[in-house]
Amino acid sequence: MKINFKTLKDLHEYYAVHNRCGLKKTATQPVYEIVPPSSGILFIGEAPGRNEDLQGRPFVGAAGKFLDELLQSIGYTREEVYVSNVVKYRPPDNREPKDEEKDACRVWLNAELLFVKPRVIVPLGRHALGRFVPGANITASHGQAFDHPTGIPIFAMYHPAAGLYNPNLKEGMKKDFKGLKKFLDTLPKKSKNILRKSEEIENLLKL
Ligand code: URA
Repeated sequence: MKINFKTLKDLHEYYAVHNRCGLKKTATQPVYEIVPPSSGILFIGEAPGRNEDLQGRPFVGAAGKFLDELLQSIGYTREEVYVSNVVKYRPPDNREPKDEEKDACRVWLNAELLFVKPRVIVPLGRHALGRFVPGANITASHGQAFDHPTGIPIFAMYHPAAGLYNPNLKEGMKKDFKGLKKFLDTLPKKSKNILRKSEEIENLLKL
């Protein structure tokens, strides 16, 4: 696959046509962001919910508000980071995405990664974590950094919705975000120092 999209919008418009995700049939529209992050931070959630489905943008509902709060607590705004999802379409009744749905959106997410060139990938919750650190358990891994064959570090986080369902988790989540900030301070400011050549990444991610 050649990476020749000029903008993220072009990339998303291409994959919105060229994907076989079964969720397309029931969703209102695909959900994505179109502005690369100035901070080099890429968050990856699970799947859009109702509000996201209606607005076409990720994390605009209650979980998104809590994500904004967590970001604010470490000095970032939503505009400075990039947020994506393992699947780009809302599953009916907000059920969890199935393996075949995650697989159908895999190339789309890989292409996004290559375009965004993040300094760090932050999977939010177990679906996104499983995509980058297979077999990892979110309860044991949140707040920790992992190596990834692409050379882009992975920093595991609970999904913001977990803090809404279980407020006891909120304080720990704030600590994890502080940990992310410290971890970012140890990384080069520019992603190109971290990323290997895109051809190599394509292989590693098996596009
Ligand atoms: N939860 C997710 O995982 N993604 C969204 O975009 C919104 C809520």
